[in-house]
Amino acid sequence: MTQPPVNVTVTGAAGQIGYALLFRIASGQLLGQDKPVRLRLLEIPQAVKAAEGTALELEDGAFPLLAGIDIYDNPKDAFDGANIALLVGARPRTKGMERGDLLEANGGIFKPQGEALNAGAADDIKVLVVGNPANTNALIAQANAPDIPAERFTAMTRLDHNRAIAQLAKKLQVPVSDVKKMTIWGNHSATQYPDIFNAEVKGENAAQAVNDQQWLENEFIPRVAKRGAEIIEVRGASSAASAASAAIDHIYDWVNGTPDGDWVSMAVPSDGSYGVPEGLISSFPVVCKNGSYEIVQGLQINDFSRARIDASVAELSEEREAVRKLGLI
Ligand code: NAD
Ligand code: LMR
Repeated sequence: MTQPPVNVTVTGAAGQIGYALLFRIASGQLLGQDKPVRLRLLEIPQAVKAAEGTALELEDGAFPLLAGIDIYDNPKDAFDGANIALLVGARPRTKGMERGDLLEANGGIFKPQGEALNAGAADDIKVLVVGNPANTNALIAQANAPDIPAERFTAMTRLDHNRAIAQLAKKLQVPVSDVKKMTIWGNHSATQYPDIFNAEVKGENAAQAVNDQQWLENEFIPRVAKRGAEIIEVRGASSAASAASAAIDHIYDWVNGTPDGDWVSMAVPSDGSYGVPEGLISSFPVVCKNGSYEIVQGLQINDFSRARIDASVAELSEEREAVRKLGLI
């Protein structure tokens, strides 16, 4: 190992996403095959033993890039020196629950974690919030970390992005690698808007290639937006390996850059682009380069898209109001 290890803090390490995620981080898929990592795992005290069990298995993987594993039951120690923070630990939605129900239950977790990041994270910290409601949890953490640049706080809509690519590729019977420039707008919730009007398939506009408004409105959009609920219904538990895979994609691209001629979806603090109120953590198309991202500018937003983006953003504004009232931001 030539480089010093990157400190990667993972919360909810003993959970189902954690179990799928940690082995991929240890194998080098989060940052790249040239970057050693040190894992710092955070769990609630009751789950520390289970996290220790996972750490034993990680040891048994003999991963050449894994420089060490530390396990904590308090955020202050877990985030000390963190370069990358994956905030996964939260209460998952169970059958019949909407994300709004989770705001209060999970909001309390992200305020102390934001404070702990503020106190001890490394200067180059990058934060990805996976735990739901991810956008607003990220907002809570960011609001409680005033010394960290706001743009370092992001939330995950990459799973939705990947789902949208897969559904579009299936409809057009093309490989997923033929689909470029997919965008998820708004909230990681059932109001999210997967936009194919700016996407391309083998260089052709995706909406034109599909040319099926009925499918777009009644199948594609609801399928992608409600896929989380579909997985819960069919699998009996919320998505885990696909969520872990999307978290890997999100950080890998943020650190290593997005390919030329393509972009990805990330929920990031709005700078007012596309009429999204400043400060809301909303999903946008972004390109990543040299360890930072930029929102793609100048895309055409038709009336159909505008109404859907506005609806999802309105939900984010309501969530922001709700957590303000709870004193979390
Ligand atoms: P899980 O219940 O299997 O695991 C969650 C873990 O978090 C548990 O081990 C729990 O002990 C731990 N935890 C709870 N509070 C904690 C705290 N304060 N600090 C540290 N750890 C804590 O859940 P899961 O299936 O792994 O899902 C985790 C979260 O990810 C859920 O909120 C779920 O809804 C969300 N999720 C988001 C996406 C997305 O696309 N953004 C996709 C799938 C799941
Ligand atoms: C998902 O999209 O699979 C997760 O956010 C789980 C959920 O609650 O929908």
